[in-house]
Amino acid sequence: MSRLIVVSNRVPVPDKRGTAPAGGLAVALKTALEARGGLWLGWSGRSCGEDEIGPLTSVKEGNIEYALTDLTQQDVEEYYQGFANRVLWPICHYRLDLAEYGRREMAGYFRVNRFFASRLLPMLREDDLIWVHDYHLIPLAAELRRQGVRNRIGFFLHIPWPAPDVFLTMPVHEELLKGLTEYDVIGFQTVHDRENFADCLARQGLGKRLGTTRFMVGEQAFTAKPYPIGIETDEFAGIARRASETTLHRRMLQSLDGKALIIGVDRLDYSKGITQRIDAFETFLTRHPDSQRHVTLLQITPKSRSEVPEYEAMQRTVAEQAGRVNGALGTVDWVPIRYVNRSLRRPALAGLYRMAKLAMVTPLRDGMNLVAKEYVAAQNEEDPGVLLLSRFAGAAQELKEAVLVNPYDVEGTAEAIARGLAMPLEERRQRWQGMMATLRENDVFAWCRAFLDDLSGTARTTAPSA
Ligand code: UDP
Ligand code: G6P
Repeated sequence: MSRLIVVSNRVPVPDKRGTAPAGGLAVALKTALEARGGLWLGWSGRSCGEDEIGPLTSVKEGNIEYALTDLTQQDVEEYYQGFANRVLWPICHYRLDLAEYGRREMAGYFRVNRFFASRLLPMLREDDLIWVHDYHLIPLAAELRRQGVRNRIGFFLHIPWPAPDVFLTMPVHEELLKGLTEYDVIGFQTVHDRENFADCLARQGLGKRLGTTRFMVGEQAFTAKPYPIGIETDEFAGIARRASETTLHRRMLQSLDGKALIIGVDRLDYSKGITQRIDAFETFLTRHPDSQRHVTLLQITPKSRSEVPEYEAMQRTVAEQAGRVNGALGTVDWVPIRYVNRSLRRPALAGLYRMAKLAMVTPLRDGMNLVAKEYVAAQNEEDPGVLLLSRFAGAAQELKEAVLVNPYDVEGTAEAIARGLAMPLEERRQRWQGMMATLRENDVFAWCRAFLDDLSGTARTTAPSA
């Protein structure tokens, strides 16, 4: 079996407090890679001066060997905070209004991709499989090819790929598109994302489509396919079962004092629809006054990308909004919204999911959304809770039995909360069983296998096939 080298900006190495970063990429990939083993190159999370960049730091954890690189402060500002998170992230989440283009940031993005290539090259063996992840590193294959690398290189995009009218607003769209065609396999979360990508190629007159999943640009044939990412379904269900015996669980139950729990878990990100969700919860409480004092929304929202101005502004907006609702509707013995700004470990999260009668997973746009899947896996099969899921999350393509909502429609979402809380046991069970079967069939290990099977079996320039 070839050695696997994973490259991503974020790596799940725990920080000084022992907390691993929240985020679907780190969580899912770690689980998948632990089983197969491999080398994982990524950013250490540290920034330093230009002349202080040292050799890679090596950390071994079980089957995974991490190779971590520092970046300069300028790199972090231009590549990570700038182009990746102020251009690519908003564009891919349909927020043209938030995209801030700057030549300096664009140049920084391509420069850091070259730098990642230079860090990878000395480690590379001939038959290594290289698997690059997410929007930070789109041009990495092109950089490696320029240096003569012929290995198979795959790319998986964890976030949505937008429609051409949105994508093509980006000044460097052509370079990014061409960069992607240097990969052997390009993975998307959904068919919809892959079709948007195919439409972008067609609109730019780049190459031709050979079949549903095969494309050709110049001399290069490559595969572009959906591989919806999953979770470690059975393991997570086990963690949730065991969590109900912990002190945290007992304390939480006590503090709820019989009130129904609704849960929301999201990085503090404008794509997650947190303000619309709080509006919907407030509307629900106002329209159903008999629910007041009987329902609590627990919103767990670790801070994310705080140095990026749009995220910093959001911290204030959401905190003020939760405070306003609590002030307006709360009583001396009932707080409608418990708003928590810290990252919880997975066992704690699993226990809270299991306790919640309803989960609100209502992003305005999301590549997949693993929280939706984790909530389902954590349920007690005898008495499962209800998943309210945005139709704009990739997960909605798979979890058809969820209660699908349009998060922009605040009143519709408020009514869905009422419906979910009143849903009869039989219906809840039926919906849950359907979703659980899907999650068991396509867990994170199946996702990883499907991608790597395609990557190892796909030659770079092959005869056209469908
Ligand atoms: N997560 C966590 N602790 C938290 C909040 C989130 O470990 O306090 C994890 C969560 O369990 C999930 C991931 O972070 O596995 C979030 O992934 P998702 O796909 O839902 O969203 P993303 O953050 O990747 O946009
Ligand atoms: C999403 C992205 C990941 C990213 C994560 C956390 O899941 O797809 O690439 O790692 O958010 O964001 P951060 O900027 O902290 O890495």
